[in-house]
Amino acid sequence: MARKIIIDTDPGIDDAMAIFFAFQAPQLEVLGLTTTFGNVSVDLATQNAITLTEIAKVTVPVAKGVAVPSVIAPRPHPDFVHGKDGFGNIDWPAPKGKAVEKSAAQFIVDTVREFPGEVTIIALGPLGNLAEALKLDPEVANLVDEVVLMGGTAIEYGNVSPVAEANIMNDPHAADAVFTASWQVTMIGLDVTHQVLLDNPILERIREANPTEGGFLYDCAQHYINFYSSRFDMDGCYFHDASTIAYVIDPSIFGVELGAVRVACEGIGIGQTIFAPEGMDFPTPHWNDVPMTQVCMEVDSDKLLKLFETTLS
Ligand code: BDR
Ligand code: CA
Repeated sequence: MARKIIIDTDPGIDDAMAIFFAFQAPQLEVLGLTTTFGNVSVDLATQNAITLTEIAKVTVPVAKGVAVPSVIAPRPHPDFVHGKDGFGNIDWPAPKGKAVEKSAAQFIVDTVREFPGEVTIIALGPLGNLAEALKLDPEVANLVDEVVLMGGTAIEYGNVSPVAEANIMNDPHAADAVFTASWQVTMIGLDVTHQVLLDNPILERIREANPTEGGFLYDCAQHYINFYSSRFDMDGCYFHDASTIAYVIDPSIFGVELGAVRVACEGIGIGQTIFAPEGMDFPTPHWNDVPMTQVCMEVDSDKLLKLFETTLS
């Protein structure tokens, strides 16, 4: 039976890769996309999510979510990474469809209640919608199969400060609520996503085999690849969000460590995901009685990229 998933997203180029990966994977059934601010505004993220369903010709509801962080002031959208349109400035026409009437948080609660124990939430942006869902209905934490999120970092450097990853930095209070709730969280952070490099030869092969989704991803990715190759010594881009889809299809691609994760919500370490490995005791209380997160620390990059390529082709 296909695994039921909701994708919470801020598309976003690597979000688009993740979403097409999920749509094409027979192992997954995408029940809905919920949107958040992050790479772009929530209005544009919603429009982009609908665009992706129309390109892929799938009927998947899209529910609009939070527009701003729960406590801190919003940070600027990173158009130098994802373009002003979130798709690498490719000037794609606006979609025809509309979002559903309910909020992202309500959509999450209602869908989890409809399929208790069966729904996995894959979160690819700041975590405000998940935190809102917990507020609306705290019991959902016990009814979700798993939360698999792209965000944070345990020992790798951050990408928006020396210690913070962008999705967590954009709403640290929401992230802390998600890591401390009683659901099973799996964190796919920079520890692993900085080990997976997607390059143009792979994207060209996918475009050749699948001109619709592959052609769109190739065009979007050029801006993203230019950003990475101009700033860092690399010939390609990080695959960040799309790694979550590989995880839900085949968790054996990753090596996981267990521990309690808390998020720093102020000071120079704001946005840091602080990982206390299972079995280590500290005199400070912040990690006591916090549920164990599965933190991905190792990844078989070749296997992961092969899975992406074969699924999209
Ligand atoms: C994360 O931040 C966003 O820019 C990407 O879409 C990804 O979700 C990587 O830090
Ligand atoms: Ca994202």
